[in-house]
Amino acid sequence: MKNKIIVTGGCGYIGSHTVIELLENNYDVVILDDLSNSTEDTLDRILKITGTKPTFVNVDLKDETATKAIFQKHKDAKAVINFAAHKAVGESVKEPLMYYRNNLYSLINVLSSQIENNIEGFIFSSSATVYGTPETLPITEKDETQRPFSPYGNTKKIAEEIIDDVIKSNSNLQSISLRYFNPIGAHESGLIGELPSGIPNNLMPYITQTAAGIREKLMVYGNDYPTKDGTPIRDYIHVVDLAKAHVLAVERILKKEQDEAFEVFNLGTGNGFSVLDVINSFEKVTNSKLNYEIVERRPGDVPKLYAATNLAKEKLGWSADKSLDEMIKSSWDWEQKFRKQNTN
Ligand code: UFG
Repeated sequence: MKNKIIVTGGCGYIGSHTVIELLENNYDVVILDDLSNSTEDTLDRILKITGTKPTFVNVDLKDETATKAIFQKHKDAKAVINFAAHKAVGESVKEPLMYYRNNLYSLINVLSSQIENNIEGFIFSSSATVYGTPETLPITEKDETQRPFSPYGNTKKIAEEIIDDVIKSNSNLQSISLRYFNPIGAHESGLIGELPSGIPNNLMPYITQTAAGIREKLMVYGNDYPTKDGTPIRDYIHVVDLAKAHVLAVERILKKEQDEAFEVFNLGTGNGFSVLDVINSFEKVTNSKLNYEIVERRPGDVPKLYAATNLAKEKLGWSADKSLDEMIKSSWDWEQKFRKQNTN
C-alpha cells in the first residue's frame, strides 16, 4: 500500500515539483487546487515526467464545507503538504484582506478537516520573510521572527503561530514548517517551471522574460545597500532541491523521527548572491547581455538574507548545493522551452 499525501496548491510552481518527487518516491498524491495561479495542464506534464497522473480536485479551500467533504473522502491520507496560498508581495500590500482571507481561511479549514479525520502530518510552506530584517547572518531557526514588511509575509508568520497553537491543543498533529529562501530554476525535463501570471515580481523570471524579449528591461532596485556591490544579497535555491526536502519532511513525520511535534527548518543553500551576481552569472551562462537599469530601492527589501543550513542537514539529511550558474541555466532552459511549446 502506498502512503497517500494530500498536496494543496499542487499545480503551482513549488507544489508541482514536489508532487513529482513524491510520485517518484512511491507516494500516492491527491492535489487540491483552485487553479487561481496555475493551470490544469500541469497534470499532463506531471504524467509525462512520472508516468502517473495524480488525483486532482478543483476546490476553493476557503470553502469549509467543500474542504471537509474532500478530506472525509481521503481520510486514509497520511499527511498534508500545504502550498495553497497567494504569494505576490506587492499585491498583498494593496489587498491585505484578500491575502489574510485566502491564506488563513484555507489554512484553518485544512487543519480542522485533517484533525477531524485523524490525518496526523502537516507540512507547511513557509518563507524566510518571517525573519524580517535580521540582525545577524546566517539566519538560524532559533533566531527571533519579526513582523514581515508585507501582509503576504505576515500570513506566513501568523500561519506558523496558528499551527503552533493547534499543535499544543492537539497531541496527534505533527508538523514541519519549511522556510524557503529564494526558489529559482525548473525541472530538468523543461516541462514544468515557474509561470508567473502577468508581470513577474521576482528577480529570476523577470530576467529570463527580459532576455526572451517579453520585457524591455530589468529594473535593479537600488545599488546603495550595505553589501559588496550595493545590491541586495539573497540565498537562491533550486526548486527541485526544495521539492526533495518536502519528501524528507514527510518521511520524518511518518517515521516519527521528530524531536518536537512542531519543527521548523530553513531551506536555502547558505550562500548569498547579490542581484548583480545573478545578472553576471546569467550573462555568462547565456553568453548574452541583459538590458538592465539601476533604479530606486523597492520598499520592503532587506539588504541581506541567507540561511544557516545545518539544522536541515542534521535532522532531515538534506542539503542543496547546486551552483548559481546551474540554477540560472535551468531557469533559462525552462523559459526557452516553455515559450517554444507555447508558440508551436
Ligand atoms: N529585484 C530587482 N528587480 C526586479 C525584481 C527583484 O532588482 O525586477 C531584486 C530585489 O530588489 C531583491 C532581489 O532582486 O533584492 C530578489 O527579489 P525577489 O523579488 O526575487 O525575491 P525577494 O527576496 O524579494 O522575495 C522572496 C520571495 C517572497 C518572500 C521573500 C522573503 O519571493 O515570497 O523572499 O524574503 F516573501
